[in-house]
Amino acid sequence: MNITLKKADLKGYASALVVFSFTQEQIEALKKEKNHDALNTLILHLVQSGDFSAKEGQVLIHNTNHQLTFARFCLLGLGEKEKLTIQKVRAAYANVLQACRKMRISEYTISVEHMPDEKFSVEELAEAVIEVTLLADYEWDKYKTKTKESAPHISSVTFVSSSEKTIGSMREILHKTQLICEQVVFVRDCVNENADDMTPQMLERLAKEAAKQYKLKLTVLDEHHLRKLGMGMILGVGQGSRYPPRMIFLEYHGNSKSKDSVAFVGKGITFDTGGLNLKPTGFIETMKCDMSGAAAVLGIIKAAAALKLPVNIVSVLSCAENALGSRAQKPGDVVKACNGKTVEITNTDAEGRLVLGDAMAYTVKQYKPKALIDIATLTGSCAMTFGDICAGIMGTDDKLIKILFEAGEKTNERVWQLPIYPDYEEDLKSDIADAKNCVLTRYAGAITAAVFLKYFTEQTPWAHLDIAGTAFLEKGKNGHLPKGATGFGVRLCIEFLHHWKP
Ligand code: BES
Ligand code: MN
Ligand code: ZN
Repeated sequence: MNITLKKADLKGYASALVVFSFTQEQIEALKKEKNHDALNTLILHLVQSGDFSAKEGQVLIHNTNHQLTFARFCLLGLGEKEKLTIQKVRAAYANVLQACRKMRISEYTISVEHMPDEKFSVEELAEAVIEVTLLADYEWDKYKTKTKESAPHISSVTFVSSSEKTIGSMREILHKTQLICEQVVFVRDCVNENADDMTPQMLERLAKEAAKQYKLKLTVLDEHHLRKLGMGMILGVGQGSRYPPRMIFLEYHGNSKSKDSVAFVGKGITFDTGGLNLKPTGFIETMKCDMSGAAAVLGIIKAAAALKLPVNIVSVLSCAENALGSRAQKPGDVVKACNGKTVEITNTDAEGRLVLGDAMAYTVKQYKPKALIDIATLTGSCAMTFGDICAGIMGTDDKLIKILFEAGEKTNERVWQLPIYPDYEEDLKSDIADAKNCVLTRYAGAITAAVFLKYFTEQTPWAHLDIAGTAFLEKGKNGHLPKGATGFGVRLCIEFLHHWKP
């Protein structure tokens, strides 16, 4: 999609459709005005007939008349000004995009002067509307034969304002937002791809391409390296698969004055069958999504490099396929992690914490980051707790968690904290090893998984994001979150990086 900014007057402006948004208060004010131009006359007409009331999310597409130079216009309702939030603005403009697609309109204009700028700054509005416009048009239709009936994608959106200054202030926002959204789309595509194509080897290839394009330092540990380094946990998870595991490290040095870095570690299970503790029908179908964390950390470092953020980052993709077969790891086996801890495998379906544990312990030792953030589709329990509304956050550093929380509120990739009291450790004790990978009860599953991960953080300030509920949706939402992969984590962590200081 092509987004352009244009300084122009709507009088004499030609377009297939122009979008105007209104709060209910603005409509009331319009009613009281004395002299109306051609556009406002038309709008008031629709208000008086009851067709448009500026109700939250309302979209009315209507033909104009001969006095106006654009063919159609769209009235967008924002509801009461008092209750308006930036997320409602996003949802409203996503509705516009969907309505246009349904009507097979592939190009439209947004009037910047008709955005709710009494409540939010033009910059805030521009960011939110550009972002949602780029992301709402996404659909995973690579394998779907295009027919005449399939709704066309939006080819071009123009933002119009009569003020040169406004257009100027939007230019940089447009550029940055495009760079971020490009990576959100990249992550969605990676996650939606067939699991038999998106293997650990494919993630290695994508990391290699990223390293080349953004001048990142790449280190890949293959199964031989992993064995030498004693990474028994990731090897155990991957041993049943024809695609051997890979641990992939990308470094971005955006701040040459400092040695301090932040590490992102992503769970990269390219398919989670559950292993010998096989997942039943109803649970296994979406498990290509289990590398969403790894895809996110790849997207994050690419976006940070594209934006030239002044921080140092190491992104770690801990990749394996949790396959089922004669070579698969068995319940009751004991494996040894790279930090020397032994783990009794009580459930082969609790594999995420195993690939993450090895990656986190190694990352901390090798790179000594000032902060460690892991991102993982880790537990069904977290999805049961929060649904797809927010991710779970747990960790050992209040400052880190607070910055992530605030970044979540800003981007609407929200996170909510769960406690990891030491009391939970009791259930992870094993009779035959230092810990079990999985507790016997089904209680507090999201928490006990995090408590297990904590054993591999070695006192590094740490936050854990459980994105099991938010990474992949069974149906689309709000017009702007697509069915399937959402790309959750990229916008959140880029916002985080703007506020984090070592
Ligand atoms: N990948 C799953 C978690 C998951 C569930 C992600 C639903 C996305 C949607 C994870 O590896 C898993 O299987 N977790 C188990 C842990 C249990 C065996 C302790 C779970 O949550 O059921
Ligand atoms: Mn699993
Ligand atoms: Zn999993």
